Formats: sequence, C-alpha cells, structure tokens
Amino acid sequence: EQLRQAVTAMPKAELHIHIEGSLEPELIFALAERNGVRLAYPSVDALRQAYAFKDLQSFLDIYYAGASVLLQEQDFYDMTAAFLERCERDNVRHAEIFFDPQTHTARGVAMETVVSGIHRACQDSPVSATLIMCFLRHLSEEDALATLDAALPHRDKLIGVGLDSSEVGHPPEKFARVFARCRDLGLHLVAHAGEEGPPAYIASALDVLKVERLDHGVRILEDAALTARVAREGIALTVCPLSNTKLRVFDQMRDHNLVQLLDAGLLATVNSDDPAYFGGYMNDNFIAVFESLPLTLAHAKTLARNSFAASFLPAEQKRRFL
Ligand code: ADE
Ligand code: ZN
Repeated sequence: EQLRQAVTAMPKAELHIHIEGSLEPELIFALAERNGVRLAYPSVDALRQAYAFKDLQSFLDIYYAGASVLLQEQDFYDMTAAFLERCERDNVRHAEIFFDPQTHTARGVAMETVVSGIHRACQDSPVSATLIMCFLRHLSEEDALATLDAALPHRDKLIGVGLDSSEVGHPPEKFARVFARCRDLGLHLVAHAGEEGPPAYIASALDVLKVERLDHGVRILEDAALTARVAREGIALTVCPLSNTKLRVFDQMRDHNLVQLLDAGLLATVNSDDPAYFGGYMNDNFIAVFESLPLTLAHAKTLARNSFAASFLPAEQKRRFL
C-alpha cells in the first residue's frame, strides 16, 4: 500500500502512448454524434464489451474503427486534451505522443487538421508534450514517404517518427528509405519491434532503421547477445504491461518479463500504449506490475528515472526531472 502510494505519486514520463488509443468509448460516442458518424455498436457499453482481444490484429481492427469518428481539428484537440488531463492526475509530467496520420488521411482528413488539433492541445496543457508521427507498417513504404512529404510543413511540431501497426510480416527493413530521410531531417527515430515479432526485427530496427528507442521490445530476451548489446548501448525499451497482457503477449501479469528486463541491465520503462482499450493509464500500469511482480521501491525509482533518461527532452530539461 505504501509502495502503491509512492509509485502513483512519483513524477513520470510517458514514452509510448498512441493518442488514438486514448479515445474512451464515451468520447467516441460523443464525437460520432457531433459528426454524424454511424457506429457499428449501439451503446458505450456494447462497444466496451467488444474490447476482448486475442492478439495485436484483433485489437487494431477495433482501434482503427474507433478512430473513424475523428474528423474536425477540434476532435483531435478534445482527444488530446482529455489524455493530457489524465497525465496530470497520474503525475505524468512529460509525454511523447504517437499519432497515426495515415488512419485519418486515408479517410480524407487533412494532415493539417490532425497535426494542428493535437499540437494545439499540447500547447494548452501544463504537461510537457511532444509529438512522434508513426508510419503504419501494414501500408507500403511509398505511402509512408507521401505521408512524410505531407507532414513537412509541420516539421517544427514533430520531435520524431515511429513505426506501428501489424508487426509480423512487416519487418523494419521495409521502411529503410523513409527512415533514412527522417534521419537526414534530424528527427528522432523509434519503432515498435519485438512485441509480437521476433528478435531479428529488433536487430533490423537498430541496424537498418537506426532507431534510438525500441517500443515494446519484450521478446529481446530470446536473444542473449542482442540483449547484452542493447543493454551496453543504453537503448531504452518502452514496455507496456497492460497492453502485453490484453494482447496475449504474456498470458498473465505474473508472467511478464519486466523484472528480467531490468535485471539484464536494460533501460526499461513503463507506459500505457492504448489506455482506453487496455484497462488503464500510467498509474494503472504501475499498480498492475507492482501487484503481480516482485518489484521494490528501488525498482520504482529506477523506472521513473528511466522514463526521463530515455526521453528526447534536451539535457537541461532532463536534469530538472531526474
Ligand atoms: N498501434 C496502437 N497500438 C499498437 C501496438 N501495441 N502495437 C502496434 N501498433 C499499435
Ligand atoms: Zn504501441
């Protein structure tokens, strides 16, 4: 109980949050009403009932359907503002927010609408917040290159780019050219790797895409040499415990490998991924792992410290938090 108090009160950074995954069923219905969008579910409760996933793809199908209510700049603003208010309650002082523009531009929503709404909410919040634009890996690299071009007028509003959506069958090297261009633009680079995909995808995210941080990365322990290398190089893993159990990467929280990741010397962090779909925000993730795993107050401090250390904040701002 004391540990729970300490963990929830600690200042933390959130480094793995898909903003579309923060869209709560209530807001989905409110936006559907506002925009005259017809949903496949009759009620908030019926929608929430559908949140039973067997793997990543079964989640993604419903997550993309939920995002279909986002049409106006104000919709993107309201979604982001709601998330940042939750950050305040959880003592999340800094958030590096993923967004999936292709989910919206494919429906005819302008890049400008997406980026402006999300960015304006970040500016209006007391929480420090920056944006990472993600490419959908189930689409082609040409589509990703066109998305990057469309985002260039907003280069100043982005700190980096990432890679998400269906992992298996879409290895990082599929996006070698677009990541090379982003690197030339001075953008920070991250990618989902080793969530459902094998350690080889983690290696190619590092060697081909040259990512600075690994999203999930939990399958890294299947490769001891790779684990030792990532630990030595100080490359962070943005681990998402509730996501991993909801998407059956681990059957139960007591099976989660967070302790082993930390014991291996990896810079692991705790994050929420898609909090509206997986049963909780930052503190819910912390509470879940501390309830189920042999973690101590020293681990809690390490995890909070890691979250700022692994962030893309400038050094002087990191120091303020560390
Ligand atoms: N998009 C939103 N959440 C994701 C996840 N956990 N993995 C891959 N793509 C995602
Ligand atoms: Zn994710």
